[in-house]
Amino acid sequence: MATELLSPLLLLLLLAVVTFSCSPVAARTPELVELTLLAGAREKGAVCLDGSPPGYHLQRGFGSGAHNWLVYLQGGGWCNTTESCSERKMTEFGSSKFMEAVEFTGMLSNRHQENPDFHNWNIVVVRYCDGASFAGDADGEDLDGTKLFFRGLHIWEAVVDELMTKGMDTAKQALLTGCSAGSLAALLHCDNFRKQFPQDVSVKCLSDAGFFIDEKDLSGERSLRSLINAIVHLQNVREALPKGCLANKDPTECFFPAELIKSISTPTFILNSEYDSWQIRNALAPNGSYPGQAWSSCKADIRNCSSTQIDVLHGFRKKLVSELKVAEDKKDWGLFIDSCFTHCQTPFRISWISRISPRLGNKTIAESVGDWYFGRREEVKYIDCKYPCNPTCSSRLPTA
Ligand SMILES: *[C@@H]1O[C@H](CO)[C@@H](O)[C@H](O)[C@H]1NC(C)=O
Ligand SMILES: *[C@@H]1O[C@H](CO)[C@@H](O)[C@H](O)[C@H]1NC(C)=O
Ligand SMILES: *[C@@H]1O[C@H](CO)[C@@H](O)[C@H](O)[C@H]1NC(C)=O
Ligand SMILES: *[C@@H]1O[C@H](CO)[C@@H](O)[C@H](O)[C@H]1NC(C)=O
Repeated sequence: MATELLSPLLLLLLLAVVTFSCSPVAARTPELVELTLLAGAREKGAVCLDGSPPGYHLQRGFGSGAHNWLVYLQGGGWCNTTESCSERKMTEFGSSKFMEAVEFTGMLSNRHQENPDFHNWNIVVVRYCDGASFAGDADGEDLDGTKLFFRGLHIWEAVVDELMTKGMDTAKQALLTGCSAGSLAALLHCDNFRKQFPQDVSVKCLSDAGFFIDEKDLSGERSLRSLINAIVHLQNVREALPKGCLANKDPTECFFPAELIKSISTPTFILNSEYDSWQIRNALAPNGSYPGQAWSSCKADIRNCSSTQIDVLHGFRKKLVSELKVAEDKKDWGLFIDSCFTHCQTPFRISWISRISPRLGNKTIAESVGDWYFGRREEVKYIDCKYPCNPTCSSRLPTA
């Protein structure tokens, strides 16, 4: 469904190697970063859907970055039913039995040219194996009578605790991020992450492709809302939601970023496409929401959309941009809202920092995020014009 860390990464790496084979930097293969399983996971009740211990990958910082920490929460859709969670148990998104070492690229890379501002930080990728954006707290029963563990919230807490024992407790600067479902998790836990550190530590959050909007699909149904509603109830995510929102709204509504960002007090950067390819494919125009094949080639490649379809996409953009008003008005927040047909732009070199990366104000995402994090510019808030206005959008950007 949404982003899977490993395979698109390999694919994009290959692409990058082919594209930039003249550059010695791109041609060097990033090293694999080993998987670490959480210690005492079962005793802590912090387990993947199948009851196995969750895992993460830690790439140690060095030099001036030795006391800085970047925590990245992996994404990969959600599971909203016993059946879909049961299927997930048999994959790396539901069990550490299937997890392997990963390559760190883009914002996760330890190479200066690929990641000028964060390459020497301690960088942690937390694997996503709970199916509910690190937010669930319940036990379920699988079809065969065995248990299904919905323990995302405990995974979040236990992993943060363990990282504290590995040096994060003396962090000088920290950044919580993630992509897609993991990006939503970064928003959910942003203020909690901030609270782990003393006030003089600089702590910020970055949401990449997690700005899911509560928009109707083509048939007029709120299919994303039903999906979220099912997750919220199946996995019991209440505890992870802002109390202020729960006081007057239902938990499903509170799970959407438009509500979440109202309560976040930590400086946050929202990176998202106005035409988020995952949302267009799965929330605006999911299969079954339109007759026949009318939308299939448009969903596959935005260049194939008819002018009527483009108008519908502009409607989606309008709603997304209007919901970002809250973030626009917040001091110390940052925005990079491009008009490229893409999804998850930080963990890939090609979109993070390359000759074909999307640019706004002539800045790449890497420059914009760095400028915002380190306060190198007064304000970093870009909202792009309408598709196809931006000549830096490439069809080779990740859309998974
Ligand atoms: C679960 O999500 C799928 C799409 O991913 C959808 O077809 C199905 O209706 C959803 N089930 C519930 C109970 O919301
Ligand atoms: C939607 O339909 C297309 C082709 O018609 C298929 O390739 C794709 O897997 C379907 N997507 C989902 C989520 O079922
Ligand atoms: C997009 O349109 C081009 C030219 O009309 C066509 O060759 C291509 O197959 C289409 N792509 C998809 C994914 O439908
Ligand atoms: C855009 O930035 C690049 C360097 O990143 C620079 O070479 C180029 O001159 C800039 N273009 C404009 C129009 O400012």
